[in-house]
Amino acid sequence: MINNILNKVGNTPLISLKMGNEPNLNVFSKLEFYNPTGSVKDRAACYILNRLLNEKIIDSDTTIIESSSGNFGVALSAYAKLKGLKFICVIDKTTLPVNEMLIRQQGAKVICITEPDQYGGYLMNRLKKVNEIVNSTENIYWINQYGNPLNAQAYYNSLGKEICLEIPRQKLDYLFMGVSSGGTITGVSQKVKEKHPNAKIIAVDVEGSVIFGGKPRKRFIPGIGSSLRPSILESASIDNTVVVTEQETINSCRELLEKHNLYAGGSSGSVHAAVKKYFNNSKLEKPTNVMCVFADRGERYITTIYNDDWCKMIKNYSAGVMPTTVPV
Ligand SMILES: Cc1ncc(COP(=O)(O)O)c(C=O)c1O
Repeated sequence: MINNILNKVGNTPLISLKMGNEPNLNVFSKLEFYNPTGSVKDRAACYILNRLLNEKIIDSDTTIIESSSGNFGVALSAYAKLKGLKFICVIDKTTLPVNEMLIRQQGAKVICITEPDQYGGYLMNRLKKVNEIVNSTENIYWINQYGNPLNAQAYYNSLGKEICLEIPRQKLDYLFMGVSSGGTITGVSQKVKEKHPNAKIIAVDVEGSVIFGGKPRKRFIPGIGSSLRPSILESASIDNTVVVTEQETINSCRELLEKHNLYAGGSSGSVHAAVKKYFNNSKLEKPTNVMCVFADRGERYITTIYNDDWCKMIKNYSAGVMPTTVPV
């Protein structure tokens, strides 16, 4: 018996996933959307706040601040409330209404950035706002998921450990993970390389993200990708990168639902598409264990990935037709 669902973070289900006709390809997936607020980011939110409180870096009067328009904002608002901490979440006008509602309903103060930055996105202006607030507020702590080592340590100590324990026959050949702040891949890769030094860590990114040197371009699906390279990635151990398109992400999300009954979020589709791309036409000579991380649920993408009109808009955009409005 547990006294609050938020204490049920981690120990997510591991499933085996039949993919393609290659008999030696064994794909397993960690379903991170079984975390309490619906994503892998619960692990970071819970771990970071516990460490900060236990080590007295913050106290019950500290205000927490973070720039996040997605899963991390939702997770932090829940765990900050559980711990009685004030939380300011800086979002922007592209934030999904459902995420904004969840963040507000869980007691966070929401500041919404509406002016685009010099790159046409909102990240730089969100970070500028965070800096302004931090510089003018006493007893405030900026979580800073892109640079805070605690973000990676959260995954080293939880998801990384679970993957090492659960991989069948203790044989891990490949591990595929989506990247945004870089916390998941940094922490998990560090742990996995200790136990399985020969396992290949594959980073999954989307077209339009600059994390692995790609050209910046408008991206529509939230979750992975970034318009800056997170400093936390300097200590990650990455062997290879697979970049997928938003169309491939959509196709894979729909395939996961139709063939595997998995109603998964965008980055799960990106990871699935990346595994397909990587092993396309390969003849594996011996059984190969591939682990992937499915980071969040499909519900929050009902107006996007699972909406036919929205998907048409993405198809047109890829063909060079700019949308006049972006439905959310
Ligand atoms: C859906 C989804 N997938 C993957 C990630 C990547 O996690 P990380 O920020 O640890 O790189 C995120 C991060 O917010 C996410 O929301």
